[in-house]
Amino acid sequence: MPRSIIWAVGGGKGGVGKSMFAANIAVGLAKFGKKVIVVDTDLGGANLHSYLGIKTPKVTINDFFLRKVSTLDELLLETSIDDLKILPGSNEIVGMANPRYFTKLKFMRHIQQLQADYVLLDVGAGTSYNTLDLFSMAHTGIVVTIPEKPAIESAYGFIKASIYRKLLTVFQKDLKLHDLIDQARNPTNDEGIKSVHELLLKAKEISPESAAELESTIDAIDLRIVVNFVQNSHEEAIGPKMVELVERYLSISPEYIGSIPFSGKVRESLTKQTTLLMADSEDEASAALVFAARKLTVPRKSQVDSKAEEIEKEDLTEPSVAESNSEK
Ligand SMILES: Nc1ncnc2c1ncn2[C@@H]1O[C@H](COP(=O)(O)OP(=O)(O)OP(=O)(O)O)[C@@H](O)[C@H]1O
Ligand SMILES: [Mg+2]
Repeated sequence: MPRSIIWAVGGGKGGVGKSMFAANIAVGLAKFGKKVIVVDTDLGGANLHSYLGIKTPKVTINDFFLRKVSTLDELLLETSIDDLKILPGSNEIVGMANPRYFTKLKFMRHIQQLQADYVLLDVGAGTSYNTLDLFSMAHTGIVVTIPEKPAIESAYGFIKASIYRKLLTVFQKDLKLHDLIDQARNPTNDEGIKSVHELLLKAKEISPESAAELESTIDAIDLRIVVNFVQNSHEEAIGPKMVELVERYLSISPEYIGSIPFSGKVRESLTKQTTLLMADSEDEASAALVFAARKLTVPRKSQVDSKAEEIEKEDLTEPSVAESNSEK
C-alpha cells in the first residue's frame, strides 16, 4: 500500500482557527473524492470532532495511549461525509497531554501507518516538543495565524522552533553540527549567527559535507501559511509579508495559501453541529476554504507571490522569539 500524504495544521497561538481550518480542509478534500482521515493530536485541547458534527466521541486517542487498542485504525469514526473519518482527541486524562518520549514515537509510527489519500493532523497550539515533533513529521506543515502582531510573532516563533527542532533531531548524531544548530536557534548566540543562512555558512567552515546535508534538509521542508479572520486588504497583505520574513531569516520559502475572511457562519455552523463547507457553499469564508483546499493539493509554485516584493525592508526585522522549552 502506498503511504498516505500527511499534512499537519499548527501555529503558535490558541484560538486562531487551526481546528476550523483542518476540519474544513478535510471536508474539502473528501468532496474532491479523496480518502481522508483527520486526527486530533491536540493532546489536552481536543475539539476537532465538534467541527465535524460529533458531540461526544465514543472512542478517543486515549484508548490508544491506555493500550485498549493496538492500532489507531480501530479508533476511526465515520463522519457524515463519505470518505472522511476522524480519530478524535480527548481532554479526559490530563496526563495524556504529555506522553512519554517512546510513547510519542510509537504514536507517530502508527499515524504513518494510517491508510488514506490524506491524513490531516490538528496539532494544537504552542511550541512544546510534542507539538513540534508531530508538526515536523508531516510531509507538509500548514501554519495558521491571524492578522494581529502578537499572533504573527507567535506564528513566526512556531515556524522557527519547528525548523530548529527538525534540524536538531535530524543531526543529533553529528555532534559538532548539532551544537552549532543549538547555538544558532538562540538569538543572542556566541557565534553571532542571525539567520539560517548564516548557520549554513558557519556549518560549511566546519564540514562542507554536513553543510550540504543541512541545506538539503532545509530545502525539503514544505511549509504553507494561512491567515484567518481577515477583514480588509491591509490584512490580506500580511501573508506575503510573513513569507518574506521566513525566507529572509529561516532560508525556506513557504507558500502563502491565502486568507480566510471572518464569517459569522463559522460559529453558526458549529452551533448547528456541521462544518462550514457543508453548511454554506455561498459563504465567502467557505469559498476561501475550498480555494485553500484546492491550492494545497496542487504542486508547489516556486516563485513567491509578487506582493512580497512591495514590502518595505525596514518592516522585516526578525520578531523576538522567547525560548522557554525544557522538556524532552
Ligand atoms: N474565519 C472565521 N470566522 C469566524 N469565526 C471563526 C473563524 N475561524 C475560526 N473561528 C472561530 O474562532 C474560534 C477558534 O477557532 P478554532 O477552535 O478553530 O481555533 P484553534 O486555533 O484550533 O484553537 P486552539 O488553539 O484552542 O485549538 C472558534 O469559536 C471558531 O468557530
Ligand atoms: Mg484547535
